[in-house]
Amino acid sequence: MNNVTPRPVYDSPRGFFSLARKIPPPSGEYHWVYLWEWPIRAMHWATVLCLIALVVTGLYIGMPYFIIGSDSAPHFLMGWVRFVHFAAAAILVAVAMLRIYWLFVGNRFSRLPSLFPLRPRDWSNMWKQVKFYLMIQPEKAPHYLGHNPLQQLSYTGIYFVAITMIVTGFAMYGQSNPGGLIYNATNWIGILFGGMPVVRFIHHVLTWAFLIFIPIHVYLSIRADHLERTGVISSIISGGRFVPADQKYIDGEDL
Ligand code: HEM
Repeated sequence: MNNVTPRPVYDSPRGFFSLARKIPPPSGEYHWVYLWEWPIRAMHWATVLCLIALVVTGLYIGMPYFIIGSDSAPHFLMGWVRFVHFAAAAILVAVAMLRIYWLFVGNRFSRLPSLFPLRPRDWSNMWKQVKFYLMIQPEKAPHYLGHNPLQQLSYTGIYFVAITMIVTGFAMYGQSNPGGLIYNATNWIGILFGGMPVVRFIHHVLTWAFLIFIPIHVYLSIRADHLERTGVISSIISGGRFVPADQKYIDGEDL
């Protein structure tokens, strides 16, 4: 790390749109850090595909606007849509189980503590991170290699939403075979929530949590890639990113 050319720091923005223009081009010495092991990347992209399939087919199940005529037998469209929904649901459950396993065996960027802002420093950094996203004092943003505290909180939140979708989804699925294994395992959920219509309502409303989360997630990834210029988006394909050698990272103790 000796003889490192100092990187230019950026000024405080003077106008709403001026931040991006003030970021200097990358220069100086960079290190490549390996963050996301291949199972994490595979799980990420499998989840993306599952969520697209589940949201599209789920919204169609809720409001089947393409149904042609009153007799569905010739085209069996709803049957196929439901099949895709349940197949994607099964893959999502498999991915969720693997992700839980990976909370214990993954590297420090994907293990359990990386998903919960439990340390006091994470809570004070979370506020600084909010100010960074609001373009207030961006130069004071805390630097993390893995998830920043706001990401930790939002990813944990979306995992809980996904678990609720799985639980409510299986509770509905079980109703098609009263007395069957899934029915017996999940029927208490309808009783707990006050009836299957409520379960269905929760399943429908939480779909919108994904429809809100996904564009924000994509926008913030593109924004970080553009502003930090360290290959953030590539990291979920290649596994790592380049970081400036002179930059201190809160979660980069042993770099
Ligand atoms: C994040 C993932 C998921 C999303 C976004 C999603 C979305 C939806 C939506 C919007 C509906 C229509 C609700 C309505 O009637 O208004 C639906 C229905 C349904 N979903 Fe999901 N879902 C997901 C996961 C699951 C899972 C894991 C299962 C488990 C088997 C599941 C099983 C069902 C069932 C059984 C129905 C009702 C189908 C029917 O009435 O024929 N879903 N889903």
